[in-house]
Amino acid sequence: MRDIFPFSQIKSSDYLLLKKKLKDHDYSFQTFMKYNINPFKFYPLELEILPFRLQKGTKMTLLILLFFAGQPLEKKQIYTIFTDSELRRLLVMMVLRVIPSNKIQSNVLIIPYLKYYFISDFKHIRPFDVKIKRFQKIYPVSQDSIDLYEASSKQKVDKTLDLCTGSGVQAILASIYSSSVVAVDINMRALQFALFNTRLNKVTNVQYVKSDIYSELSDRSFDLILANPPYEISFKDSAIFRDGGHQGTNILEKIILDLSHRLKPSGSCEIVTRLPEFIHRSRSELFSQWLNHDAYKIRYLEYYRIDIFQNIVNGFLLKEQMSKRTHKISDVEKLVDFYKMNKITCISYGVLKIKKADVFSYKEQRLLNTMHIPITTNSQIDEMMKEEN
Ligand SMILES: C[S@@+](CC[C@H](N)C(=O)[O-])C[C@H]1O[C@@H](n2cnc3c(N)ncnc32)[C@H](O)[C@@H]1O
Repeated sequence: MRDIFPFSQIKSSDYLLLKKKLKDHDYSFQTFMKYNINPFKFYPLELEILPFRLQKGTKMTLLILLFFAGQPLEKKQIYTIFTDSELRRLLVMMVLRVIPSNKIQSNVLIIPYLKYYFISDFKHIRPFDVKIKRFQKIYPVSQDSIDLYEASSKQKVDKTLDLCTGSGVQAILASIYSSSVVAVDINMRALQFALFNTRLNKVTNVQYVKSDIYSELSDRSFDLILANPPYEISFKDSAIFRDGGHQGTNILEKIILDLSHRLKPSGSCEIVTRLPEFIHRSRSELFSQWLNHDAYKIRYLEYYRIDIFQNIVNGFLLKEQMSKRTHKISDVEKLVDFYKMNKITCISYGVLKIKKADVFSYKEQRLLNTMHIPITTNSQIDEMMKEEN
């Protein structure tokens, strides 16, 4: 695959230039908060309302319109932020492009978080290298990306593995407390975005590997494994970043099946995911089977749980906002039948934390069953996190 970003032509001063402009003009998470914009969760309607939330004409507003809303700007607006030579560098980097009306548009969405910036494809705009198929889109840093980071233990570790890296967000954030990070994705395009982000954020201890989960990692094992896998229940796999098969667990299963070889004895694995609940099968049974009945301690910090009917409603509401097309009742019936056929009753969302049981003290071990998935309500999460540290 041809490079999307011309890495050989991008100088370190170019990354610095982009980062400096964003920083100097307050393109930050705090600014988004100030204007009541959640940068991790936004729908078309929210983008439409965005210009009304912002102060007109400031450099910060222009940057938000350009890099967050994906709006084209007039050249004269661009020149209030960038000099002509700076603009030329951003065009070389493929961050910006000139569109037919002679306006300037961003090729990439930029999400600020902590002191970092993460580029990805826009959620609601076609990718700029139009030849790629939609399903190869790079997942923006989203609420689940942040939920995983916030729920993770962030203790100093030697080797970390980020499965399903996408924009590289988990790998880059984990590089703060890891000696080294290996990050994998099955999509070569994702690895290029991740590499761009690594350079943009001046991170040097992350190595990227194109791999179907562990397939290209020979027999390497890790102290910490992180994953935000595709977890949507799907009829057919059409979006590589989203679809997890008929029960939403195809990739999750792949990750957990080989965990015993991939986790160092005292290692831990942290995964943000949705989990289905089945009619005649408990989650403990499911995990126990995946883990070959070895002794593991599993915690599930459950953020919410909805029944299949609510899930169907949410799915259609989202689709209607995205495509502005209404659904047919026969589509609803099809989905209800599909969930029933797969024996799914409920779907929950949260963060899984998995450790080999024998790393816990004797006292703890006695309390453990082979499998332990306490279902946690939101208010209990803080308590659990305290316990974890
Ligand atoms: C939901 S995105 C997560 C991106 C990022 N880690 C985050 O937290 O925002 C899922 C990513 O998994 C990747 N993926 C899907 N199937 C995979 C597989 N079998 N092996 C490795 N990566 C895979 C997709 O290409 C996509 O980049």
